[in-house]
Amino acid sequence: MALQKFQHFMLKEIYEQPEVIRHSLSDPTEAFQVLPTLDQVEEIQILACGTSFHAGLIGQFLLEQVAGIPTRVRSASEFLAAPFPRFRNTLVVVVSQSGETADVLAAMQVVKQSSPGGAFNILAITNNSQSSIATEADYEISVAAGIETSVAATKTFTAQLALFYGLAFFYARQGQRLSNEQLKGWNAQLDALPAQVEKVLQQEATITAIAASLKDTKTLMLLGTGINYPIALEGALKLKETTYTHAEGYAAGEFLHGPIALLDQTIPTIAICPSQRSRSASAERMLKVAQKISSNGSDVILLGGSDAAIVLPPCEELLSPFLNIVPLQLLAYHLAISRNIDVDHPRNITKSLKSS
Ligand code: G6P
Repeated sequence: MALQKFQHFMLKEIYEQPEVIRHSLSDPTEAFQVLPTLDQVEEIQILACGTSFHAGLIGQFLLEQVAGIPTRVRSASEFLAAPFPRFRNTLVVVVSQSGETADVLAAMQVVKQSSPGGAFNILAITNNSQSSIATEADYEISVAAGIETSVAATKTFTAQLALFYGLAFFYARQGQRLSNEQLKGWNAQLDALPAQVEKVLQQEATITAIAASLKDTKTLMLLGTGINYPIALEGALKLKETTYTHAEGYAAGEFLHGPIALLDQTIPTIAICPSQRSRSASAERMLKVAQKISSNGSDVILLGGSDAAIVLPPCEELLSPFLNIVPLQLLAYHLAISRNIDVDHPRNITKSLKSS
């Protein structure tokens, strides 16, 4: 893999996202035709680690809120200690960029052992169709993001998201929760996403300046709500992995129940606001929390919304994770560079944890 004009693979892979999303969303529901039909899926269980776990949380939001299917997510390592109770007609979705993460493989074995009669169907979402996880599953759908070299996952995350939108729309259509017309409407919005992500990438200079202002910051809070709560978690993970900043993601409302006590003038908060034409209830909720934080004297960096430090193109809130994650990835990249960190190979972590 060549770096081309980029200095690091992480930056190159961030910039590949419009193309990856375009490819993944070209026919969003097509790949899922092989799966059990909705009458055979009473529940979905999602198992994953790290960034893939965060994609799984967004998957849960979509499968519950769009497709109406009860869905649970658990970190694969925690599933080993606390497997979900067994249900009939469960689709288990294992998500792993590498397809080799030991805890995910072990969780798959637990699922298989608890289901000798085959009551579970396992779908693997990976970026490697030859991997152990892909091979062990009943169904495999590749995110086809191309090789990701940087240890910190970026383009594979957005590609995993794209597949979860496809999966949710696929079952929503089957369950008559979306008409053909509505699905067409969503497809048109999905088609617009790559160009919108390109617009976000054009804000790199603004984000570099924000990164410079955070050079000496030791702790950062990230808040999101609704479908963007997992984006707060993923943004915090990117910052931890690549910049060694103590960054924590919280749900905006929950942050008021204790963690807000941590804030002082040295701890900035990034408030992730969905950026749509008319303000949603989630945006209102987020802005209220942001106002409370700044009235307490702590800095707030608003991501999305018209008064934001980083203004994002307006899009439906449901699709906003695609736009909101990109500035956080760029921020993590530029903060790492400003601290002279080897961003493609951060300390103590590997691309895939093959043993735990
Ligand atoms: C490791 C990496 C993380 C990654 C996680 C899951 O811990 O350091 O960045 O998200 O594995 O990897 P997977 O290949 O299963 O998606």
